[in-house]
Amino acid sequence: MSGNAILVTGGAGYIGSHTVRQLGERGERVVTLDNLSKGFRENVLYGEFVEGDTADKVLVSRLLDEHRIDTVIHFAAHTVVPESVADPLKYYRNNTCATRNLLECCAAGGIRQFVFSSTAAVYGIPEQERCSEDTPTRPINPYGMSKLMSEQMLRDLGAASDLRYVVLRYFNVAGSDPEGRIGQSTPDATLLIKVAAELALGKRDVLSIFGTDYPTRDGTGVRDYIHVEDLADAHLKALDYLRTGAESQILNCGYGQGYSVREVLDTMQRVHGAPLNIIEQDRRAGDPPALIAGADKIRQVLGWTPRFDDLEEITRSSLNWERKLTGRSR
Ligand code: UD1
Repeated sequence: MSGNAILVTGGAGYIGSHTVRQLGERGERVVTLDNLSKGFRENVLYGEFVEGDTADKVLVSRLLDEHRIDTVIHFAAHTVVPESVADPLKYYRNNTCATRNLLECCAAGGIRQFVFSSTAAVYGIPEQERCSEDTPTRPINPYGMSKLMSEQMLRDLGAASDLRYVVLRYFNVAGSDPEGRIGQSTPDATLLIKVAAELALGKRDVLSIFGTDYPTRDGTGVRDYIHVEDLADAHLKALDYLRTGAESQILNCGYGQGYSVREVLDTMQRVHGAPLNIIEQDRRAGDPPALIAGADKIRQVLGWTPRFDDLEEITRSSLNWERKLTGRSR
């Protein structure tokens, strides 16, 4: 084989598979490493697939070498906040320790470009609803902390070596491939738009609004929902950026606009064309009232321009994917 390739960890998962697809579509050489704990082999539409763990140093080192990898895009992680509270060491092992192993292999293998999936959960409950990248990071759950610790390792390794990185802090991701080939397949989903799509298709009986007494415009939680296609594109733009030799960056990934739970559910009901069975409950522990990305930096630094910045489009695309999943075994 000739030329360098990109190693994508977690490329069979929700966001990873959309990124692999976009990389493949533009002709990049991609090697996906995924242990299939949450991902699905058939979601990997391009490149080579290797079943294995990011924590397996022998395997990772061999892949870096054999495929002449020059860039790693690192998605592989556990991402369920309540689970991280119940089983923190699972999160520190799979997110933080595995990232450390991967970075050690990268350092040994001379990898100089790294794109890392981080999260708005690093901000915890921010004092202002809109977070810029220099808003203080105070995670309130092990998931957010496990990601912040990985960010810190990247920072330190970047200072001590030639490694340059882009950390992408995702806000609330939803939607699916516009051509309907892949989407969010994770079972036991807890994310609002996924749950609402399942409800619309009769896979659930009811959806609870967690908290109606927040200091927001209608009392429900406000979030910045980003379409997975735009988020995947941010990874390609980060890759292009690193290839210019530019310096490391930490960037929020969101549109800079918030929608309340009620607004999201109204949109889903409109798109679905029928009312949904919604009840009101108490707040869910650990939920901030509002979390919106300060989203200017990513546009300036990467030249990223969203194409699907439309809540109706996002909910429709989630619903379309959920419809496709209906009748499958998952
Ligand atoms: C959280 C994390 C995020 C992580 C994601 C996946 C934080 C700040 N964010 O997002 O980093 O990637 O989980 O686990 O920790 N809601 C309902 N009813 C439901 C589901 C949700 O009312 O059935 C509400 C929530 O209270 C919240 C909003 O909808 O206000 C969005 O919740 P959700 O989709 O679960 O995502 P986050 O908790 O914001």
